[in-house]
Amino acid sequence: MIDYILFSASQAQQQMESLSGLLQACVADGASVGFTDAADREAIRHFWQQRIPGLAAGDSQLFVACQQETILGTVMINYSAMPNGRHRAEISKLLVHPQARRQGIARTLMQCAEQRARAEGKTLLVLDTRSGDVARDLYRSLDWQVAGEIPFYAESTAGVLDATTLMYKVLV
Ligand SMILES: CC(C)(COP(=O)(O)OP(=O)(O)OC[C@H]1O[C@@H](n2cnc3c(N)ncnc32)[C@H](O)[C@@H]1OP(=O)(O)O)[C@@H](O)C(=O)NCCC(=O)NCCS
Repeated sequence: MIDYILFSASQAQQQMESLSGLLQACVADGASVGFTDAADREAIRHFWQQRIPGLAAGDSQLFVACQQETILGTVMINYSAMPNGRHRAEISKLLVHPQARRQGIARTLMQCAEQRARAEGKTLLVLDTRSGDVARDLYRSLDWQVAGEIPFYAESTAGVLDATTLMYKVLV
C-alpha cells in the first residue's frame, strides 16, 4: 500500500537523504527538474535543505508518496508570497522514482496537491514542464491548460537547451 503524506518541515529534515536520493535518481534518469548533474549529491541535498524554512513557515507544502519506509514520490505546493497573488500557488518537484512509475503515483500526488490548495482557498495553480515530456499528458488529463511555450528555457542533463510549457488550472 502507498501512503500519501503531507510532510512537516521536521519530517522533511528527517528524510533528507531519502528525498535527495529520489531527486538524484530522477536526474540520473534524465528528468528536467533543475539539475544537470546527478552526481552532484551535495547540490541536490542543498536544494531540499533550502526548502525546510519555507515548509516550516507554511510558504510551501510537500506531499510524499511512501511505501513502508521508502519514499517513491513527491510534489510541492509553493504559495505566492505577494499580496496580489494570495489566490495562487505553483506546483513543483513532481517526482516519481524511475522504478515506481506508471502506477498512478504522480496522478494521486497531483490530486492531493490540488485538494490541499483548494482547502487553502487557492483558485489558481501554475507550473512549467519540459515540452515533450510525458508529464504534460498527465497534467492535460487532470484538466490543466497550456498557456504557452518558452524556447531554450532549461539546460538538460544532455547539455541541450529545452523549451518549457507553461500550464495553469483554474480551481472552480
Ligand atoms: C512525470 C512523472 C512524475 C509521472 O509519474 P508516474 O507516477 O509514472 O505517472 P502516473 O503513473 O501517475 O501516470 C499518469 C499519466 O501520465 C502519463 N504518463 C506517465 N508516464 C508516461 C509514460 N512513460 N509514457 C506515456 N504517458 C505517461 C499517462 O497519461 C498516465 O496515465 P495512464 O497511466 O492512465 O496512461 C514521472 O515520469 C517522473 O517523475 N518524471 C521525472 C520528473 C518529471 O519530469 N516531473 C515532472 C516535472 S514538471
